[in-house]
Amino acid sequence: MTVLVTGASGLVGAEVVARLLAAGHDVLGVVHRVPELIGNNGRPLRAPKDRLRLVNGDVTKPGLGLELPGRVDHIVHCAAITDFGRPEALYQQVNVDGTRHVIELARTHATPLVHVGTAYVCGERSGTIAESELDVGQRMGNHYEESKLRAETLVRKASADGLPVAAVRPSIVVGAARTGVVRDFKNIYVVLKLTTQGRVRSVPGHFDAMLDLVPVDHVADVVTATVDRFGEAEGRTFHAVGGGLSLRDFSDVLAEFPSFHVPRFVSPTAFDPQRLPASERAYHDKVVVLYESYFRRRITFDRKETERFMTTKPPATGQAFLRRLLEHAVKAGYLGTPLPDVDQVLAGLRGN
Ligand SMILES: NC(=O)c1ccc[n+]([C@@H]2O[C@H](COP(=O)([O-])OP(=O)(O)OC[C@H]3O[C@@H](n4cnc5c(N)ncnc54)[C@H](OP(=O)(O)O)[C@@H]3O)[C@@H](O)[C@H]2O)c1
Repeated sequence: MTVLVTGASGLVGAEVVARLLAAGHDVLGVVHRVPELIGNNGRPLRAPKDRLRLVNGDVTKPGLGLELPGRVDHIVHCAAITDFGRPEALYQQVNVDGTRHVIELARTHATPLVHVGTAYVCGERSGTIAESELDVGQRMGNHYEESKLRAETLVRKASADGLPVAAVRPSIVVGAARTGVVRDFKNIYVVLKLTTQGRVRSVPGHFDAMLDLVPVDHVADVVTATVDRFGEAEGRTFHAVGGGLSLRDFSDVLAEFPSFHVPRFVSPTAFDPQRLPASERAYHDKVVVLYESYFRRRITFDRKETERFMTTKPPATGQAFLRRLLEHAVKAGYLGTPLPDVDQVLAGLRGN
C-alpha cells in the first residue's frame, strides 16, 4: 500500500512513517516547514527513494495545495498545531479546516482515513472517558482542545456519510517506553523544566488529579496497526494512552532527584497568582496558565477498545516510566544538573 501521512515530520508522524516503512508500505510524507523526517531517536529516517517520497503541502489549502504524484491507498492525518497559547484562528485554520481538507482529499481519492486526534477532546470532564464518546457538551480546556473536538466531529460526520475512517486519540505524548528518549522537549516538558528549576514553585492543582502520559512508540504502534488492519479498525476510536499518574505520584518521583525543586501543588481555590513573586508570576501568566487545567482534572481514559484491538500489551507507564523520562531529560541536559557519579567523584579525589 502507499500511505499518505500528513505531519510526517512531527514527533508522532515520523515514528508512524518509520513503522509503516518497516511494515512494508510505501509512504508519501506531506511536509510543511520542516523538510526532513527525524525519528524519535534523533536520527534521519532512511529509505529508498521509491519507498519514501516527501511532498510539500499545506493542510490549510484545499487539496493540501499539492498534486498527488501517484496512487494513494490510505491517509493518516497527523498534521496539527500542537503547542498551546497560539491564536484561536490558527487552530481553526490548521486543525479544523485542515482536517476538512484532508477528509475531502480522502473522499476524492476514495481512500480510508486514520485521523490522529487527542484524548483531551474530553475537555474538562471528570471520571472515566469512553473511547466512543465525543461531544457531550463538555467545557473545553483551551482553543487547541476545542479545535481537535471540532476536527474529530467532522471526521465522525464523514464516517456517518460513508467515508471509511478510524480515529486514534493519544493523551500527552512523551518519550519512548523503554528508554524515556524523546526527540522534542515540548509541552509538558516545559512545565517540568520551569518547576524543577525552581522558577515556578507553586502550581494550582489537586494531588489526586491525573496526568496521562503515553510513550510516543505506543502511539505510533497503535496508528500503524490501525492502518495495517483497517478492516477491523474501521469506524472505531482508540485511546492511545498510558493509564495516568496522579500529581502525588509526580511529586514523589520528582523528590527522588536531588537536583530538582519539587513544586507545591496548591488547592486551585486557595491559589492566588497575585501573591506570587514577580519573576514567578511572569512564568505563571505565560506558561503555567496554559497547562493548569490539566492539574485539576480527575480523569481516566478507558482503553478497552484499544486493548481488544492491539495484539501487544500497552506499555507500563507508572512511576518507573516517569523516572525514565526524567532520567533521560537530565542526561540530555534539558532538566537539572546531573550529579557526578561515584567514579567521577573518586577520579576527582585522585586528581587532588
Ligand atoms: N504531542 C502530543 O502530546 C499530542 C497529544 C495528543 C494528540 N496529539 C496529536 O497527534 C498529532 C501529531 O502530533 P505531534 O506531537 O507529532 O505534533 P508536532 O510534532 O507538533 O507535529 C505537527 C506536524 O504538523 C505539521 N503541520 C503544522 N501545520 C501544518 C500545515 N499548515 N500544513 C501541513 N502540515 C502542518 C508540522 O509541520 P511543520 O513543523 O513543518 O510545520 C508537523 O510535521 C496531532 O494531530 C496532535 O494533535 C499530540
